[in-house]
Amino acid sequence: MKDATFDDFIDRLRSESDLVSIVSDYVSLKKKGKNYWGCCPFHQEKTPSFSVTPDKGFFYCFGCQTGGNVFNFLMKVENITFFEAVKLLAKKLNIPLPEKEKTPREQARDREIAILYQVNELARDFFYACLTKTNYGKPAREYLASRGVSAEIIDFFKLGFAPPSWDKLSITFRERGIALDILLKSGLSVARNSGDGIYDRFRNRIMFPISDARGRVIGFGGRVLDNTHPKYLNSPETEIFNKRHVLYGFDNAYKHIRESGQVVIVEGYMDVITLYSQGIKNAVASLGTAFTPEQARSLIKLNAELLFSYDSDAAGQNATVRALHTVRSLGATVKVVSVPDGKDPDEFVRKHGSSAFQDLLKTAQPLLDYQLDRALKSDDYSTVQGKIAVVGKLAPILAEADNAVEVNAHITRLSQILTVDESALRSEITKYIVQAKKDKIVKSGKTINIALLYKQPAPAVVQAERQLIRLMCDDPSLIPYVLAKLSPDEIQGGLQQEIINFLFNAYNMEKNITQATINAGINRLSENARSEFSHIMLIDIQFDDRVKFVDDCIKTIRLAHLTALYEQHRLTADELERMGDSNFLQELAESQRIKHEISKLHH
Ligand code: UTP
Ligand code: MN
Repeated sequence: MKDATFDDFIDRLRSESDLVSIVSDYVSLKKKGKNYWGCCPFHQEKTPSFSVTPDKGFFYCFGCQTGGNVFNFLMKVENITFFEAVKLLAKKLNIPLPEKEKTPREQARDREIAILYQVNELARDFFYACLTKTNYGKPAREYLASRGVSAEIIDFFKLGFAPPSWDKLSITFRERGIALDILLKSGLSVARNSGDGIYDRFRNRIMFPISDARGRVIGFGGRVLDNTHPKYLNSPETEIFNKRHVLYGFDNAYKHIRESGQVVIVEGYMDVITLYSQGIKNAVASLGTAFTPEQARSLIKLNAELLFSYDSDAAGQNATVRALHTVRSLGATVKVVSVPDGKDPDEFVRKHGSSAFQDLLKTAQPLLDYQLDRALKSDDYSTVQGKIAVVGKLAPILAEADNAVEVNAHITRLSQILTVDESALRSEITKYIVQAKKDKIVKSGKTINIALLYKQPAPAVVQAERQLIRLMCDDPSLIPYVLAKLSPDEIQGGLQQEIINFLFNAYNMEKNITQATINAGINRLSENARSEFSHIMLIDIQFDDRVKFVDDCIKTIRLAHLTALYEQHRLTADELERMGDSNFLQELAESQRIKHEISKLHH
């Protein structure tokens, strides 16, 4: 469905929908001035900070900084995908969906997928009956009881047992008329090497059915009852089981995540189950594999804070750092919960109870704090060698953090803990940045601007950036004017830079760009940038001469940029000189050139 007619259809839906009346289905709104106000549906509040701009078709909450257009609103409030939001809006507006004829092949595939869902559900019921109703399920029942899993929990998670036989499931299912190739495609059966017949993949294992967000069974994990390997066996990838997307427990946790605004991410099946049975119902498991962007996205959509609570062993901690890198780039709020005693949340909760775990959740650390803490703990910094080693580990973490204000606060704090001079720590970071830029080893392509390490971006600059964006959106014919005068690199605010880049790209793709094309494209912005965009649509701006106003904004932005650039080169020159590198002369000359440019701009 992704073609020009589909884009037209989206345009039509947006232009025919009245955001105020759509939002009113969920939020009671009151008109104040040009805009409408109500209590935000995305976070708890008593005084309204959620607003809708009817003429622009955007909503924005000043409390939780959530914003966007009509599709974003429906996606968030209903927790649905973009396509589902399109369908829902079409239904609300009574506009028929553009039909697409399915080919016979697509129809056959649809049928097969429907059968795979059915077979998985049958298998879940089969394993469940084996566990709860048969004699050979007894050791499994005893095993689960020994781990504190009650009959109610078995029933709730529909845990099961795969009998200790080579082909009990395969034979039973064949007798029920399920085709051989479906059994193989579902991953429940495996073809014999001899090429003759099939046998059961899962034998003599406790079975954990895995469901998708809608509660349909898509696969299984099976655990041995003793210490043999592999401890867990999982369904292979199938047409309906995609490991990159799976979050165990998500179907149950979903509504608790919405309610609490938090999701606890753990590694294993048993962590989710034990937490749930102890009343902590907003946990999901990433199932031991690396946390994927797909998993991150389905959680980020819920607008929840992500609390990682992985195993406290080295493997778990390293997995935490990798997971954090995955989500950091997606703009989620991430924190880390360290489980102090016991290997994983399952053990911790069984030992200390759920309120102790709730207390742990309250001590969750932001990503940067967690990384810095790990570095601090890696050496004994009471010795000089230890201090040097720790500072060496802190520098790259601080250099690659993306918020200079935060970094500055940490520098002060860390220098007190380590009892090293604040300026020494700053110069270590500067040294790292200079070296990293020279070696071009900065994979992420960015380190914090050295100048910003010493100074925070002024509110006046951010204001100018916002005003400029607003002017270009109100009158897109200004975009080429600004494009000719300003480079996106000159924008200091990260979100503002993303938005300006987006406007420039939109213009480059379509020269006669309109407000409607801009509004249509904002889905391509990151979540935070989209919210910032909606915010910008709400600010009030007044001016007499439009072009002069634009020029003034550009001048404010350029001066701030040049000043930061000047300081960057000057500080780099200092650092190179200290390192005895003659390249410092070049840096010095460059800083002089910039200084000259700044004074020209002032006149
Ligand atoms: P763990 O080894 O931490 O197991 O693996 P666990 O969850 O604590 O399990 P129990 O408490 O011993 O029963 C964490 C997760 O990694 C996946 C599983 O999803 C498991 O829950 N895993 C682990 C596998 O897929 N295969 C394995 O062999 C081991
Ligand atoms: Mn465990």
